[in-house]
Amino acid sequence: MQGLTELLFRRVYHRCYPGAVDCAISPFLSLTHGNLADAWKKIDDVLPDLNRDSLPVIPQILGKEPVEFVELANRLHEVGYAEVNWNIGCPMRRVTAKHRGSGILPHPDEIKQLLDYVVPRLHPRLSVKMRLGLQSPDEIFSIIPILNDYPLANVTIHPRTGRQQYGGQVDLDTFQRALGLLNHPVIYNGDLCTLADYRRLRARFPQIQDFMIGRGILYDPLLPLKIKTDADPRFASNPTPTISLSDYPTALQFINTLTDAILDQPASDISKMHKIKEYWCLVRRSLPITEQQSLSVLHTDTLPKTLESLRKILSVSSPT
Ligand SMILES: Cc1cc2nc3c(=O)[nH]c(=O)nc-3n(C[C@H](O)[C@H](O)[C@H](O)COP(=O)(O)O)c2cc1C
Repeated sequence: MQGLTELLFRRVYHRCYPGAVDCAISPFLSLTHGNLADAWKKIDDVLPDLNRDSLPVIPQILGKEPVEFVELANRLHEVGYAEVNWNIGCPMRRVTAKHRGSGILPHPDEIKQLLDYVVPRLHPRLSVKMRLGLQSPDEIFSIIPILNDYPLANVTIHPRTGRQQYGGQVDLDTFQRALGLLNHPVIYNGDLCTLADYRRLRARFPQIQDFMIGRGILYDPLLPLKIKTDADPRFASNPTPTISLSDYPTALQFINTLTDAILDQPASDISKMHKIKEYWCLVRRSLPITEQQSLSVLHTDTLPKTLESLRKILSVSSPT
């Protein structure tokens, strides 16, 4: 997720919860109008040397310029990536207006055009991350026969439309119909924020092997471990019995470590403060603190005040 699950986060997460997440999709590298310069600006985020002590990552590409897509994907393969992911789900209007991200979903011919050019020239495997449509969830049904024609590694579906952005309900009925028609492994993504959500989704879609967590990992950094250690007898094959949650940092300890890592970055105080607050806004939901404590961090206007407020909460709430 742009601005959230970049290298810094992935490194800290891996240090705190090794093995909790099987793999991460990188925030997208954009081909902006056929110009690779934008993508290269962010390439550090996925360079294997920098990602060594971090979550395993699959680089993601946003754009629909076939020549540049192949060039970027094959360069990523050269540096060691066996798979790249194509983002056709991004809902930002400045992206969709150019038929990129979920903006391409009402135009199956353009999807086919890109795949026709790219697939035979691509060295890494290709996977796709998509929504049900841009305007209508039924758009996916014109796309599925096209996707079925290519050797994709998998298809991740976030069952919303682009127009919904991140609001409204996920459309599980349409997702279920699409699942039955796709010939590729399907990964479910969307509103998986608690163990109960996971159990509900797992029970409804037993054929799905892999689930992608988005915002949920920030709402509750321990969620992937909770899922991996789930002792629900219906999914007896799932739990990893050697893992005990109490062996891992709490969400508070995690946010503390993440804050320290942000402070170590070569950035201005103001941008460090914004970054800390951005994470705090999400993770505060799972912390054993009052609303007043939680807001006290957000209502600060300088980095020292933010840290003072944060440390106060951490010192009061930390387990002894
Ligand atoms: C701030 C933000 C940035 C995101 N950036 C990306 C991105 O770069 N690539 C991507 O595929 N999805 C991105 N997403 C979408 C998430 O990966 C995910 O599909 C979506 O949030 C639904 O899953 P969730 O309900 O578990 O969060 C982003 C979401 C948010 C909120």
